Amino acid sequence: MKNSIQSVLILIAVLMSTTGADEVVYVQVGKTVTLKAPAGNNVQKFYLYWYFGDDFQLAWRNNKGGKGFTGDDKWKNNLSWSGDSLVIENIQQVHLGSFVCKVIDKIANRNIETIRYKLLKLNVSMNPPSPLLPGESMSLFCDAESPQSHKKPGIAWLNPQEVKMNSHQGLFKGKATGQYNGQWTCVVTNEGKEHRVTVSVTVVDLSPAPLHPQYTSTSTPLTVPCSIPKHISWDQIKAKGIQGVHWDFIPKYGSSLFSGGPQRLFSLSLDNQLTWKKDQDRELTPVPDVKNGNLSLTRNRGKEEDAGDYVCTLNFTNGVTLKRTVHVNVLQIISSPGTDLISGQQVNLTCSLSYPVPSDLQVKWLPPEQSQMFPLRSDHYPANLSWEVGTGDGGKWRCELQQNGTWLTSAVIMLKIEPKLSVWMKLTICSATVIIILLTIFVFIFYRRRQRKMRHHRHRLCQCKNPKPKGFYRT
Ligand SMILES: *[C@@H]1O[C@H](CO)[C@@H](O)[C@H](O)[C@H]1NC(C)=O
Ligand SMILES: *[C@@H]1O[C@H](CO)[C@@H](O)[C@H](O)[C@H]1NC(C)=O
Ligand SMILES: *[C@@H]1O[C@H](CO)[C@@H](O)[C@H](O)[C@H]1NC(C)=O
Ligand SMILES: *[C@@H]1O[C@H](CO)[C@@H](O)[C@H](O)[C@H]1NC(C)=O
Repeated sequence: MKNSIQSVLILIAVLMSTTGADEVVYVQVGKTVTLKAPAGNNVQKFYLYWYFGDDFQLAWRNNKGGKGFTGDDKWKNNLSWSGDSLVIENIQQVHLGSFVCKVIDKIANRNIETIRYKLLKLNVSMNPPSPLLPGESMSLFCDAESPQSHKKPGIAWLNPQEVKMNSHQGLFKGKATGQYNGQWTCVVTNEGKEHRVTVSVTVVDLSPAPLHPQYTSTSTPLTVPCSIPKHISWDQIKAKGIQGVHWDFIPKYGSSLFSGGPQRLFSLSLDNQLTWKKDQDRELTPVPDVKNGNLSLTRNRGKEEDAGDYVCTLNFTNGVTLKRTVHVNVLQIISSPGTDLISGQQVNLTCSLSYPVPSDLQVKWLPPEQSQMFPLRSDHYPANLSWEVGTGDGGKWRCELQQNGTWLTSAVIMLKIEPKLSVWMKLTICSATVIIILLTIFVFIFYRRRQRKMRHHRHRLCQCKNPKPKGFYRT
């Protein structure tokens, strides 16, 4: 008796679960949906049928794995299996309605399990279509059928940051900003159950500028980055009415080259070739990758006068301007009083960015190997070194700039150190010099005297050679 009551209760439970409300599935026309078959209860041992409505048989499978589909034209090219689940591709209006899956024990002629689905139409649209320019008006519309025709489902829009936006009856209107870029979600709520469908919105923009300044030096390369994100093509940008693409340079204030205003460096010709035209030559080269949206400028070595702000601009016919500013800093080592030094001389080496190195950056000095210079192997290096140089300090001094252990750039300077002359060496050199001078003077005087003597002698000889017959006159 107890047993039979139990089995009746189980039967009622099974009946309730099988005759419960249909599971609502929202689909978009043209998309694909997979309807899950019942799992468990050893369904493999039984026959399985998929119906449209209550009696139109769409697909079947027997207990040996044999399978078949309806030959009806309306369904022929849309159905496939995924295990026991039914896949409906390219859903059209005619495919919407109720679907039933039954697991049947043919031997006992018993219905083991039944699942019911209700496919309802969900419509999502965007106007105008992507991509959008920042500031451009757009609307998103979401419309969902209701399982009970008298009761409208609740509809809400979430932006890509998953924040609920104000909408009215499924219609959201707004002006595009960078935050609009991404997946928007329409949330349909029916009797406490949520259904989500996403739509992708693209807002044309430049990739974000680097968070930190770019660093370079005369011994490291310079790259000024700017790019169009990979998911936006030039064709889309042209379709949006691009008018100009430029690079401008604003030298760092205080630079000797500062002339007040920005300097136009490059303009892009917007023909099919997309070639850069040079306006002012700072020996920078645009990367050859413009067609892939890379607008960066490079040089294999930085220069002192590279410090400043580089502005990459896209402007459009409707007045929208997209800009990215890249700050460039140049690291250099300044030696006072110079790089040609004498052993024992006081020298100041300063690692600088033309302004003192900020506290969130660290410098690290690398002296030449043979340098006897103070214990430089420490975790905290001063930006300024001041000491009396020795002969071992000659060579390449390197100053590295780091942030949180990340190398940013490094600068190099060559010091030439002459050995200091000792007092004795100085004395020896002085005496030698004096002796040489004295010797020179002595040689000179000796030579002059010799010459004079020779002339005197010659004079006497001449008197002999051309004998004037003095005696003859006398006589
Ligand atoms: C946009 O670019 C064009 C073409 O280079 C230029 O003539 C125009 O002045 C630019 N407009 C603005 C607002 O920068
Ligand atoms: C653009 O080119 C530069 C230089 O070759 C490179 O460093 C950078 O990663 C490139 N940027 C993108 C977005 O591909
Ligand atoms: C080195 O710098 C210190 C202070 O930083 C200064 O007092 C000194 O005069 C400088 N020496 C030389 C040779 O420039
Ligand atoms: C440095 O690194 C630490 C941990 O790696 C991090 O918490 C900190 O925010 C970083 N600081 C900067 C300025 O990037």
